[in-house]
Amino acid sequence: MARTATRIQHRGEIASDWDRGGSGLSAEAAEFADAVLRGLAQQPRSIPSRFLYDETGSALFEDITRLEEYYPTRTETALLRTHGAEIAHCAGAIETLVEFGSGSSRKTRLLIEALRDLRTYVPIDVSESFLAAAAERLERDHAGLTVRPVVGDFTKARDLNGIGAERPLGFFSGSTIGNLTHDEAVAFLDNTARLLGPGSAFLVGVDLEKSLDILLPAYDDARGVTAAFSLNLLSRINRELGGDFDTRRFAHRALYNGRAGRIEIYLESLASQTVELLGERFDFAKGERIHTENSHKYSIGGFQALARRAGWLPMRVWTDADGLFSLHLLRRP
Ligand code: AVJ
Repeated sequence: MARTATRIQHRGEIASDWDRGGSGLSAEAAEFADAVLRGLAQQPRSIPSRFLYDETGSALFEDITRLEEYYPTRTETALLRTHGAEIAHCAGAIETLVEFGSGSSRKTRLLIEALRDLRTYVPIDVSESFLAAAAERLERDHAGLTVRPVVGDFTKARDLNGIGAERPLGFFSGSTIGNLTHDEAVAFLDNTARLLGPGSAFLVGVDLEKSLDILLPAYDDARGVTAAFSLNLLSRINRELGGDFDTRRFAHRALYNGRAGRIEIYLESLASQTVELLGERFDFAKGERIHTENSHKYSIGGFQALARRAGWLPMRVWTDADGLFSLHLLRRP
């Protein structure tokens, strides 16, 4: 464990941001406090979705991926299992795999096993403990594979700290790209193109447009796991910022915005109430909402057009028989 941890690279911008203004809060806590205070003060109120993933939130998201109603994870995993060899063949001889926001290691394993020439795996993630554990497991199970984790926000990564290869393969799974607006997604794809370099390839998991009968339950399951995941954001504010949110007086709402082509998730106040945190008071009217997440859905052509705007050429796309989910292989000329 220690051996792995010492080799973890830190993004400079994050390490240098430590303890802003001498507040006594860690950089991470200060960033959270900032985002929450600003997000609750603005109209409409909104808090960036990345803050859903503290330890409890990450565990609840793992539970979501195993729900009957939540089709994306199992569908993408099946696509990798069924088409892994073909994906590896199309990508060419890949020696370095760079994963953005290393998610479920199950999917990563399937890809790693399919890439016969792989020597180096570079997971980029904000969670250092998560990275260290994943690195140790993967190195133990894959003789000859070197794991070189990079700690940081993958949307901000500017270089790979000298880790690199001629033509790496990037991997961005789970339709995490769906959290980004179209313009943010283009900016991210453009940044990745520069990070991975000329001749590189990029495998991106993208959730597809579909009937609301399937889509809505995936974001509002019968057991209430997704609701618990959303409401944990308020509990996290209470735990880390000393807030006094009464989570029983807020409800999880998931709705489809057809014009924007996305699921929108909100926390809705069930009463007229006042919440206090960090010395600030926020009045909520009954029915007033905090926007916590977007999950964009794409057509195949729609995502390919987006990728082209960022300078990526669509090479191949794999989908399941029901057209639920897609895996896009892109190449940078
Ligand atoms: C991790 C962003 C892909 O949008 O499907 C699932 C997050 N939120 N249920 C998604 C999520 C509520 C998920 N992503």
